[in-house]
Amino acid sequence: SDYWVVVPAAGVGKRMGADRPKQYLPLLGRPLLSLTLRNILSWPGLAGVVVALSEDDAYFSHLPEAKHPLVHRVVGGVERADSVLATLNYLATREAGETTVLVHDAARPCVALADIEALLRADPVALLALPASDTVKLAAPSAASGGGEPEPRLYVEQTLDRNSIWLAQTPQRAPLGLLHSCLRRALEQGAPVTDEASALELFGHAPQLVPGRGDNLKITHPSDILLAETILRLRYAPTED
Ligand code: CTP
Ligand code: MG
Repeated sequence: SDYWVVVPAAGVGKRMGADRPKQYLPLLGRPLLSLTLRNILSWPGLAGVVVALSEDDAYFSHLPEAKHPLVHRVVGGVERADSVLATLNYLATREAGETTVLVHDAARPCVALADIEALLRADPVALLALPASDTVKLAAPSAASGGGEPEPRLYVEQTLDRNSIWLAQTPQRAPLGLLHSCLRRALEQGAPVTDEASALELFGHAPQLVPGRGDNLKITHPSDILLAETILRLRYAPTED
């Protein structure tokens, strides 16, 4: 069955601290967003892609994928969720509410086709996620700390049950109409919406967790670039030009 992919790519990449938004930094000589779009355009059954870009984006039109007939663009917003909402506003004018939408970060170029296939076989509301490998601690600032320290000292409040901790990745999938209304309502309420699943959860829709893999990293800090290049080089080695 056909589906649309939504790509939020309107961020500034503050944590990367580069001279341009991170989605335009080169990986193996190609801009990150170009690699992510090229990956998405290889997925079978794809009906189209909507990319959310910042209003003053000066790079996108130079990417080869910008001219691809399946690639559409909209202007994004202040937060990631605003950018996703802009793409859904666009899609809602041209597609039925039952249309499957996959939201995928521009900053995740390494997601594997097998994971996309697993997500497409999953429930209508689902996301790729990684079972936690480290033990997870809930932190709390000590009441005794303060006075003169630049950062408050943190102490463990609780150790969480590792077997029930999953780290959310993308893509995250939902029917267009449902995602559109949940995201719009969540933002109207001022709820913190850091991923699509959280907007759906807010209104009682429990997303299915689809086990992903660690190499679907989100490029966030400078050291992630080298790691992603290594993953991509291994994956595409036989056909690399
Ligand atoms: N994003 C977006 N619109 C925003 C903020 C983020 O479309 N207003 C996109 C980013 O371009 C990225 C994805 O959402 O592809 C995930 O966000 P993140 O990794 O946090 O990217 P940035 O917000 O750009 O980075 P930072 O938080 O370090 O500034
Ligand atoms: Mg961000």
